Amino acid sequence: MNSRTFELTNPATGVKSALPVRSGSIGPDVLDIAGIARDHNVFTFDPAFGVTASCESKITYIDGDEGVLLYRGYPVEQLATKSSFMEVAYLLLYGELPSTTELQTFNSNITRHTMINESLLRFFNGFHHNAHPMAMVSAVVASMSAFYHDSMDIHNPRHREIFSHRIIAKLPTIAAAAHKHSLGQPFVYPRNDLDYCSNMLSMFFAVPCEPYRVDPVAAQALDLLFILHADHEQNASTSTVRLAASTGTNPYAAISAGVSALWGPAHGGANEAVLAMLEQIGSVDNIPKYLAMAKDKSSHFKLMGFGHRVYKNFDPRAKIIREMCHKVLAKLGRTDNPLFELALRLEEIALKDEYFVSRKLYPNVDFYSGIIYSALNIPRSMFTVMFAIARTVGWVSHWLELIGDPGMRISRPRQLYTGAARRDYSEMAQRR
Ligand code: SDX
Repeated sequence: MNSRTFELTNPATGVKSALPVRSGSIGPDVLDIAGIARDHNVFTFDPAFGVTASCESKITYIDGDEGVLLYRGYPVEQLATKSSFMEVAYLLLYGELPSTTELQTFNSNITRHTMINESLLRFFNGFHHNAHPMAMVSAVVASMSAFYHDSMDIHNPRHREIFSHRIIAKLPTIAAAAHKHSLGQPFVYPRNDLDYCSNMLSMFFAVPCEPYRVDPVAAQALDLLFILHADHEQNASTSTVRLAASTGTNPYAAISAGVSALWGPAHGGANEAVLAMLEQIGSVDNIPKYLAMAKDKSSHFKLMGFGHRVYKNFDPRAKIIREMCHKVLAKLGRTDNPLFELALRLEEIALKDEYFVSRKLYPNVDFYSGIIYSALNIPRSMFTVMFAIARTVGWVSHWLELIGDPGMRISRPRQLYTGAARRDYSEMAQRR
């Protein structure tokens, strides 16, 4: 056995095999177990993919013990202070930071794809006014596959690029249409004189009867949140997009699958759930009661916005957003924010509690983001939609990486079967 292989011996047959150890550019090595089914007729068992690298990727790196997050090698802290969401989108999609001209061209491409087909707008009328916006967004994104089916050859790099621009450009328009539908207000068309986030705010908050001025503080805050949510390697929704896309399906259908996966409260839906939880807790005096519930496995209550599959020290995005809460609330003149005060106290108390300390449960990206969305007057049911807008960039980057890989195969996990063994059909009269 050399140092780059693991030797595995099957005790039943004595057959030995050397499993190659593969190294990434940074991070732990991985054991390539592709040969074990062939050599030993066994599969690996890893429910919920706790220790499985499902693919090779060059997009995002996380060190969960050190609290490191890199997009294409750049620390998220640097991007958060120096970059913009459009520049980060370019970086994630194309792999390098853009030149001035490249960024201008990219911005202009995104801007020119912001409108959606009028027929698509009519879909919203089919939804009840209180439909959850994630349900509307997921359905409307899926239906885009009907509008761009014949013109979309996933093996054509130019078609792939046009798709990536279209979906990133149109997601805010679809999200705003869902919001306006919930309010019963007329849809507001995109404004190509505005940057990505200002346009988003305009489509959300403008009404035809009076002029709307975008608050630059709000646009800047949204831009920063979008940077922090843009990608996070093989999280559940990105893995969903990759799995769906591996079948060769229409990419709008694959992105819609990602939106649906993101909606769950264990994933992106947590930002909405955090605010509901804070309101439910109500006051600092009630924190011990809710912490006790979070520790009680029979209660089904979890501290929303806490814990992470990969981060076992802290989520660097949560740190940035907590800082940002102070600044944004001050700039918006909303320093007196009881829910933010409660969230700070909850974090402080939980991080001294043995249960959370021993399980390395820290606030994640979703713990503080809802406080900022609320301060920007974005309704709670739209929080996860905001996450989806930003994460579309990540989903598309992973889709491009997957489809562009000449070795792409359909994703097809195996299982450990624990059901009935083979048995013969019994006639109705013989059944108990
Ligand atoms: C996102 O994967 C990504 O990268 C996702 C994301 C992204 O950018 O894409 O970062 C975005 O989805 C953030 C996560 C948002 N979800 C929540 O905030 C919901 C609350 N958190 C959890 O449900 C949970 O922590 C998860 C889903 C985030 C992680 O689940 P894991 O990895 O399966 O963790 P676990 O269940 O193995 O937890 C270990 C222990 C368990 O207790 P024991 O069985 O060991 O006694 O910690 C407990 C868990 O029950 N635990 C919690 C808890 N989270 C974990 N207990 C109380 N409250 C919690 N929040």
